[in-house]
Amino acid sequence: MKDRYRVVVAGMGKRGMHHAATFQANPRFELAGICDIDEARLDAAAAKLGVAAKSKDARQLALAARPDVFCFCTLPHIRAEMVRIGIESGAQLIAMEKPVALTSAEGFEIRDLLQASGVKAVVSHQHRYGQHYQKVKETVASGVLGRVHTVYGTSTGWMMHMLSHLIDYTRWFNGEAEAEWVMAQASGRGKLADAHPSPDYIAGFIHFSNGVHGILECGAGAPDVPEVDAWWRKCCIGAQGTDGFAEVLTGGGWRVVSKQVSCSGGGSMNYDLDMPPYIQDIANWLDDEQRVHPCHFGSAYRGFEIMMAFCRSAAQGGQVALPLISGTNEIEMLRASLPQGKVLLSMPANAKEYAA
Ligand SMILES: NC(=O)c1ccc[n+]([C@@H]2O[C@H](COP(=O)([O-])OP(=O)(O)OC[C@H]3O[C@@H](n4cnc5c(N)ncnc54)[C@H](O)[C@@H]3O)[C@@H](O)[C@H]2O)c1
Repeated sequence: MKDRYRVVVAGMGKRGMHHAATFQANPRFELAGICDIDEARLDAAAAKLGVAAKSKDARQLALAARPDVFCFCTLPHIRAEMVRIGIESGAQLIAMEKPVALTSAEGFEIRDLLQASGVKAVVSHQHRYGQHYQKVKETVASGVLGRVHTVYGTSTGWMMHMLSHLIDYTRWFNGEAEAEWVMAQASGRGKLADAHPSPDYIAGFIHFSNGVHGILECGAGAPDVPEVDAWWRKCCIGAQGTDGFAEVLTGGGWRVVSKQVSCSGGGSMNYDLDMPPYIQDIANWLDDEQRVHPCHFGSAYRGFEIMMAFCRSAAQGGQVALPLISGTNEIEMLRASLPQGKVLLSMPANAKEYAA
C-alpha cells in the first residue's frame, strides 16, 4: 500500500478533465502527467491543473512516468491500444470510460489483455454513486417490492453513449445476476456514422439466470421522461416486483410505490458528487484486494456483452445466447442489415439529434 498513487490521464476532454481534477483533489493520488493529441487542449489543461508533465503521445508519457494508475478518457475508437499502453507502463490499475469497446472483437481483446496481465481495471459507470440511484438499489435489495420480476431502463440518448449505463444499473438492481440470452430490434442508420456509432433506436429483452427479465430502450424511439428537462438526462431506470416498483430518473430524483410504502425524493446526476467516491474506491481497491471496485471491469464487461448481443440480435434476428463465444464487428453487422427507412421518433425534441 502506497501513501500516494501516481496517475497519468490521457484524453483531456470533458471526462478527462473530470477524472484529472478529481484524482488531483484526492490526497491518495498524485497527477504524474497528462496527454492529449490536441496541443491547445493539452496546454489549457496543463495550465488549469498545474501539471508540468504533458505529452501528445500517451505511450511515451506513460512509459516515462511509470504510473500506478493509467486513466484514459478518449473517444471509444481506441480502447485496446490504450489498454495495451496502460499494461506496458506497469500500471496496477487502468481506469477507462464506457463503453468498453465498439465491437465484441475488441472487447474480447481487452478482456484477454487484462486477464493475461493481471492488471485491475474500472469502467466509469459512476452514476452508481448518485444518491437517487442508491436509493433505488437499497429499495430493491430491501425486499419491499416483493418478488422482483422485471428491471427496465430507457434513454433518448443513443446506444454507444447510453445503453452501457442502462445495462450497468439494471444489472446492479438485479444483484448482477448473469444474463443467459437477449433478443432485440433496431431502427435508423443516422448514428452509425457518429463517433459513438449506434443504431438510432434499439430495444430489447434480457433473460437473467434468476428469472428476472430486463427491458431496455435506447435512442430516438425511447419514451420521453417529461419530469426531466435536460435531454441527455431523460433516462428512467427501475425495477418492478409483485408488490410495487422503484425507479430513478437520471435528472429527476427517484420514486417508490409499493404495498408498504409510497415515497419519492430528489437527486440529479452530478459529476461533482459522483466522481470523488468513484475515484476514492480506486485507492481502496489498490490498498486492499478485498475491496473490489463496484465498477470493476468484470462487471462492466458482462454488461458490454449484453449490448453487443443486442446488436447481433437486431442484425440477424432471433435470440442470442450469452456469454458470447467469439468476437465480431457488430456495428458492421448493423450497417449491412439495418433497413434504409428513417427512424420514427417518440417526441419532437428528438428531431434535433435524429433527422426524422
Ligand atoms: N461516464 C459518463 O458519465 C460519461 C459522460 C460523457 C462521456 N463519457 C465517455 O467518455 C469518453 C470521452 O468523452 P468526452 O466527452 O470526454 O470526449 P471529448 O471529445 O471531450 O474528449 C476526448 C479527448 O480525447 C483526445 N484524444 C483522442 N485521441 C487521443 C489519443 N490517441 N491520445 C490522447 N488523447 C486523445 C481528444 O483530443 C479529446 O480531447 C467517451 O467514451 C464517452 O462515451 C462518459
